Amino acid sequence: MSAPVFSRTVTRGDDGALSVGGADVRELAGQYGTPLYVIDEADMRARACAFRDEFTAAFGRHGAKVDVYYASKAFLSSKVARWMRADDLCMDVASGGELELALRGGMPPQHIGLHGNNKSDAELRRALEVGVGRIIVDSFTEIETLDAIAREMGATAPVLVRVTTGVHAGGHEYIATSHEDQKFGLSLASGAAFEALVACHDAEGLDLRGIHTHIGSQILSLEAFQESAERMLGLRAAFFAELGVDLPEVDLGGGYAIRYTPHGEELSPHDAAYGMAEAVAAAIAKVGGTWPHLSIEPGRAIAGPAGLTLYRVGVVKHVSLDEGGERQYVAVDGGMSDNMRTVTYGAEYTATVASRLSEAEPALSRVVGKHCESGDIVVRDVDLPHDVARGDLLAVPATGAYGRSMANNYNAALRPAVVSVRDGESTVHIRRDTLEDLFSWDVAPD
Ligand code: LLP
Repeated sequence: MSAPVFSRTVTRGDDGALSVGGADVRELAGQYGTPLYVIDEADMRARACAFRDEFTAAFGRHGAKVDVYYASKAFLSSKVARWMRADDLCMDVASGGELELALRGGMPPQHIGLHGNNKSDAELRRALEVGVGRIIVDSFTEIETLDAIAREMGATAPVLVRVTTGVHAGGHEYIATSHEDQKFGLSLASGAAFEALVACHDAEGLDLRGIHTHIGSQILSLEAFQESAERMLGLRAAFFAELGVDLPEVDLGGGYAIRYTPHGEELSPHDAAYGMAEAVAAAIAKVGGTWPHLSIEPGRAIAGPAGLTLYRVGVVKHVSLDEGGERQYVAVDGGMSDNMRTVTYGAEYTATVASRLSEAEPALSRVVGKHCESGDIVVRDVDLPHDVARGDLLAVPATGAYGRSMANNYNAALRPAVVSVRDGESTVHIRRDTLEDLFSWDVAPD
């Protein structure tokens, strides 16, 4: 493949059609219909293992341990939970629903961390009932509520305090999470994070395990991660200086950037691991103290590059541009219901004709969906052959993260199935929505 954006088992056969995980995309489309999300199992699990192994090696040089929590919001099925368990990862869940799916896949509760800026009483209760390994508390209200619930249940809740370090990183404003003016976490700069640590330490129903931060998503800058690690170690040292308590755990979150287009860049697990280990080592050398047990939470970097979406081309239009020339609009059978990222964050993707090889001249093209909005764009700018036509299959790579997990039923669209492929075998993770599903949510008139 010329584009390095596709997952590792994607190849183009002699007849020009793509195959992934040893399966011909035409057969997958025929068997499961389109749009279809396809996960390259070998690729996704290799990425999970790369984070595990690189971080273990980089921090192991200092005698420190690291756990990798897969951020399941990127994509979750009970089968993915099973893979992560088998590959020795832990799991970050951000809602009661994600918690149940993780458990359904056999993820041991003690390997699960529960997130959320506004967890319900029921979610907190359930987390304690099943015995999750950590609850990441995000506010004073939550600290009080969780303490009360834990005491009432006769339990002790293991907690990390979510810290806003003030490091501004990441692409779009909506996915940056560690600047001051947003809803997550407790501020390091204002002293709220320190105060929250003291409150957790004093709370009878809570077992304060440490601190957590997540600085944002799609971050390329290693310096941002390093700066955040330094600030976190500084906070831990200040807590030790004041209270004589060495917090055992530090979680540095997720956010590692992936490549969405051939000219895009990524932050590799190797560079991230060694860069962050170096930053933590430097911080400890500066502020003193022992090495904590570390953890990270990659989501996109594990699931994203491993997934692609297959669409069937419908209508193709040629539109004249004011500045001269024309744009080829290629409408596919999905759109903003299966990929919210282009319209929400201005995300960039690429696409290729997947069912055949074309010798036609490339044309400036835009891949659009079938929804009733002109903003319903899947790929804003891409060269596609001039002869792309109704019935062709189009593949959009790097849709494994935040594709199906953010899919919706706009225009009563039926959300696509998710299948994984490996060694020529395909497995359904999530079946396609059906008309019966739509009717089951709709309460019919008498
Ligand atoms: N940990 C925490 C606490 C998070 O909030 C997130 C993402 C992650 C880890 C994983 O971040 P990742 O490694 O996947 O970047 N829907 C947006 C992304 C929102 C991310 C929210 N939190 C998108 O499609 O880009």
